[in-house]
Amino acid sequence: LRIAVLAGGSSSEREVSLKSGENARDALRAAGFKKVDLLDPADKMFIDSIRTYDLAFLAMHGAGGEDGEIQHVLDYLGIPYTASDAFSSACGADKDVSKLIYANAGIPIAKGVTLKKDDPITVEDIVAVVGEESFVKPAVNGSSYGISLVKNPSELPCAIEKAFKYSDKVLIEQRLVGTEITVGVFGDSETLKPLPVVEICCPEQSDFYDLAVKYVDPTDIHRIPARISKEDYEQAQDLACRAHEALGCFGISRSDFIVTSSGPVILETNTIPGMTDASLFPDELRHANIEFSDACASLVEMALA
Ligand code: DAL
Ligand code: MG
Repeated sequence: LRIAVLAGGSSSEREVSLKSGENARDALRAAGFKKVDLLDPADKMFIDSIRTYDLAFLAMHGAGGEDGEIQHVLDYLGIPYTASDAFSSACGADKDVSKLIYANAGIPIAKGVTLKKDDPITVEDIVAVVGEESFVKPAVNGSSYGISLVKNPSELPCAIEKAFKYSDKVLIEQRLVGTEITVGVFGDSETLKPLPVVEICCPEQSDFYDLAVKYVDPTDIHRIPARISKEDYEQAQDLACRAHEALGCFGISRSDFIVTSSGPVILETNTIPGMTDASLFPDELRHANIEFSDACASLVEMALA
């Protein structure tokens, strides 16, 4: 079986993806696959190269790789690939569309406003929905690129402009107070299981789990199991599975939540969670006593089944 690990691409998460890709390639080789190479879809010769492989293992993050684009190309070429299909990837990558799907499935979401460029809306209108403090996010992006925590409504126009640099749609959401957690899920439709819940502990100088914090030493930041009540813990695991199913994800996903005083509220679902040394998903697998290389091999098997 010739496996191409796809990593890189042209999204802002390119560097993160390259690290995920190297780890996945090494893991697949360790699992015993003989022919495993790293391929970058941003490479000019990509289409010619990928045709010589039997399967694509996706280690792409963000626009172009986690949003259904590369999945459509692979569908067209008839090459099987790991994780979610094109449509589910597109739904998961767009935080605005995902919120509609979550709400429809009864999964709690944050109050928010979605803006397209030049939408007529005033700061007062936004504050009326989200309150004085909010998060402004590009609708399609990951690893916190373009996200701002707004502590005063006067900062909204700047934060919105910044987020539009990354996406054509921007979300402004109420700032939820609580513990930030994330829950991976793993398995095919019959074996799907939640992994242990990770708490994300931000250093004091950082307001949220932003880019600067994400890719430093994980032992300072990830706490497993999360220090939340048993009820919230089980609820978060259940909601992560329900989010995965509502979006129609396959094999793997990782959903992020804030545990508020009234329970977990979902922020987003990553259909191709980071697999770098500092990423959350490999840590969750470790705590579930699942070897990363076995998990990568299972994703290959699921894609071929
Ligand atoms: N978007 C990054 C890679 C993550 O969620 O892990
Ligand atoms: Mg995230």
